[in-house]
Formats: sequence, C-alpha cells, structure tokens
Amino acid sequence: MKAIAVRPGKAGSIHLAELPRPSLREIADGRGVLVQVVRVGVDGTDKEINDALYGKAPPGANFLVIGHEGFGRVVETGKNVPDSIQPGDYVVASVRRPGTSLYDDIGFQDLTTDEVYYERGINLLHGYLTEFYVEDYQYLVTLPPSLREVGVLLEPLSISQKAVRHAYEIQRRLKIWRPERAAVLGSGTIGLLAALTLRLKGLDLTVYSKRKGKHLNSELVEALGGRYVSTQVMSVAEAGRKHGPFDIILDATGYSPLPFEASEALAKNGVLIMTSVTGGDRHAELPTDKINQRFVLGNQVMFGSVNAARVDFLSGVDDLIKAETIHPGWLKRLLTTPIDGLENYEQMIDHLTNDKDAIKVYVDVVRP
Ligand code: BGC
Ligand code: ZN
Repeated sequence: MKAIAVRPGKAGSIHLAELPRPSLREIADGRGVLVQVVRVGVDGTDKEINDALYGKAPPGANFLVIGHEGFGRVVETGKNVPDSIQPGDYVVASVRRPGTSLYDDIGFQDLTTDEVYYERGINLLHGYLTEFYVEDYQYLVTLPPSLREVGVLLEPLSISQKAVRHAYEIQRRLKIWRPERAAVLGSGTIGLLAALTLRLKGLDLTVYSKRKGKHLNSELVEALGGRYVSTQVMSVAEAGRKHGPFDIILDATGYSPLPFEASEALAKNGVLIMTSVTGGDRHAELPTDKINQRFVLGNQVMFGSVNAARVDFLSGVDDLIKAETIHPGWLKRLLTTPIDGLENYEQMIDHLTNDKDAIKVYVDVVRP
C-alpha cells in the first residue's frame, strides 16, 4: 500500500513510500482494529517535519509516514475489541502513545514528563497518511455517520478542547469564577476551532488575527457570533480596552511574543493559554516589569497546553455534533483545500506552504 513519508532530518524529502498492508496480528491480545484511512488533515507540524525542523522516524526505519489528523473506517476487529467498535464504524485515532511517566500510566500521555514522546505521524511512530493502519482499540474514538464529512477536524479540535478544559480546571482555584469574555489570537484551523469551543460555552468572543478586511476566516468568526479584529487595525492592548478585558485568552498564532504582549488585555484573575509549538529561535524585547506586575497584582495565570487526552476527543465529538446543529455547515467551510489521493503529495505540501487562502488542507485517501 502507498504512504506519504519523509526522511526526518532531510529537508524537502517528502515522497510516496510503499509499505506492506498491516495486520491485526501486530496488536497484542486481540485488541487490534484494522482501519481504512478515508481522509487525513495536514497542518504546520507536517510542514515543519518536511522542512527537517521537527519529527523522528521510528527506530530502525529511515523514513516516517506523516499525517496525524486521521479519519477512517473500521475494516476488522480483534477478538477482544468491545462491541462498541464494529466494522463499518467511523473512527479517529489519537496521536500520542504512552511512555513511562506516572501521567502515561493513567492515560494522560499528553502530560508526560518523559524526555521522549511518541506521536503517530510526528515522532517515532508512523502516521495516518496511508491506506490502512492498525491500532489498539483504546486509542480510537468512534464518530456517528452524520460527522462523516467533518470528522477529520476532530484531532485539531481536541487541542482546544484540552486547552480550555485545563483552563477551567486551573480556575477552580477561584471558587466562583464566571468567565464572560474570551479572546483567541490567530484564526487558522486551531484558532477557529478554539473560537468554536469558547462560543459553545456561551462566551463573548473576540478573535484577533493578522489579515485585514472581510475574508473567509473573519466571516467564519462572525458566523459564530464573534467579532474579528485585525492586528493591522489595532494593537492587542487596544482590542483589550475596546472588547475586553478577557477572562480567557488562547494563543494559536505561532508568533511567540504575542501571548506576552496580549497579557495586557487579560482580566484580573484571568487565564492565558499558549498552544503554538514554536520551533524557531525568535527573541523579543518586552516590558517585563509591567507584565510581571500585572500577573502578580491580578492573580493571573499563563500556561502551555500540548496534545490532548481521550476525554478531549470525546468532548470534541460532542462539540462537533453541537456545531452541526447550532451552526450547520460551519465546520465544512473550514475544509477549504482537498487533495485527491495520496499520490498528489506535492500538491499537498505546495498548498500547505503557499496557499494563504487555505484553512484546512486535507487528503481524500478514499475518493468520496
Ligand atoms: C499535534 C499534536 C502534537 C503537537 C506536538 C500538533 O500538530 O496536533 O497532537 O502533540 O503537534 O508534536
Ligand atoms: Zn497538529
């Protein structure tokens, strides 16, 4: 079978690889599920892996199959797989697999304290940009057939589900926290899905992003009942004075000075979440006395969030269903850029790199 692979450490090495079709026998104790890949989304992480900035091949392999935003259909199940997973079901597999820390032991490998982490399609494990994969059923989440078109958005949605869940967990320190206003920095896929997550919680929403004027991303924010503010029109501090202060700020811009600058728009007792995996080496000069003082005098919190736990995939399915009910057609508008088949991997990377109008680039592995 075909797969889209890279040679980690070698820039621009994306190519089509040929692999044997996997078998249920590869998973111990009859717990395996054979999945036919239907559709796979790609993001900045895949681009960084192909740019040789990130990612590692599995031990003993000289290539890595990429793709961590999978959506597929169950073909066959092992004898100890519960009845809740049946051939024909739509499934999404999570990304990170357990290592050795205590957190991994209790199913929270997203919180691992191990130096090395295992992520399908990213680090040390092959991903989903192929025709079939096998996986232990405990890493699969089933989706209703009504989510067939948009289920590929579950993995990126799980990122904001976890980030916001952690924010609320942290804020239990305040006993009676009642957030009203939220801001999302960035309006790419993660920013837009974070906007959805926060709107479904009923928060007043401001999305702050680069591009000016009416365009698809700004329209999508407004369709949720949020407001879109361009960085070219006002500073994040002004946006905070006008529409804030914000009880929650979630950064998904990839521009590392911004969350620190945006802390000026954070409300007292507020919480600021960083979700961008910034692989570069940017330095910035910042008013650190002011930032530090506001955090202290305002009892504020800033924290980072990576990956997601199983609960976040499950709550993500619920939010996808809610989104389809409350904002029908909204999710589908994120799926701007389909690639027809694995063999068009060059087109995929080209859109990912150069297409400024693309929100979600994805590969239809099985033609719809
Ligand atoms: C993925 C996460 C992953 C992170 C760090 C993101 O693109 O969506 O699942 O944990 O990269 O590798
Ligand atoms: Zn990702």
